[in-house]
Amino acid sequence: MPVPAQRRPTQRRRTGDLHDRQVVTVRAASPEDFDAWFALFTSVAAEGRWLGAEAPLDRAARREAFERDLAAADAASSLAEVEGQLAGVLGLRLRRGVAGLGMLVAEAWRGRGVGSSLMEAALAWAAGEHAHKVFLEVWPHNAAAVALYRKYGFVEEGRLHRHYRRRNGELWDALQMGLVLDRDSPGSPYG
Ligand SMILES: CC(C)(COP(=O)(O)OP(=O)(O)OC[C@H]1O[C@@H](n2cnc3c(N)ncnc32)[C@H](O)[C@@H]1OP(=O)(O)O)[C@@H](O)C(=O)NCCC(=O)NCCS
Repeated sequence: MPVPAQRRPTQRRRTGDLHDRQVVTVRAASPEDFDAWFALFTSVAAEGRWLGAEAPLDRAARREAFERDLAAADAASSLAEVEGQLAGVLGLRLRRGVAGLGMLVAEAWRGRGVGSSLMEAALAWAAGEHAHKVFLEVWPHNAAAVALYRKYGFVEEGRLHRHYRRRNGELWDALQMGLVLDRDSPGSPYG
């Protein structure tokens, strides 16, 4: 059964200040956001170095997945806007208590706190959904992303060697990073 929007922390609008004091708003995505979301996703995929997805993206398949996530009780799709412009997006999907995370920020807005604003909203959502952990994969060369995840307490849990085939034929390693949110379950070192 879908969870009512008001129960989901990322579905609430949150505002914050970026490093240069500009105001960033983080809110839940809606179906009308697809075109802007897809344009941003496409532009970051076209950079070719940061995402698992490679350009060109399949627009119809992405629209279907976007709308499916919006309707799903176990997923959250957030947008960060600055001056009415889409600056970044973040998606989470819960599976067996683990929230898988993916995110990106427009090139022009990086290094100014947008990613941090999105991450804070995401961690609030994951905690509100009683996720015991947040998990992601990142390319080892993506220093900015690894630094952002470490800033929020993620630790490296493993490295997949020559695991993902790129369209140019190369095989890339991936780092697996996790943040355990649970403090109470049996066996917890915090108990
Ligand atoms: C990774 C990404 C989402 C970070 O977003 P961002 O808005 O630039 O992040 P922030 O400005 O909030 O920075 C967060 C922290 O990351 C670190 N950081 C940011 N940019 C950095 C850089 N270029 N090099 C090293 N560390 C960096 C800093 O520790 C920073 O914390 P601070 O501002 O308190 O010092 C963004 O760079 C991006 O979208 N990159 C392309 C897509 C991508 O890599 N997505 C993730 C795939 S796993």
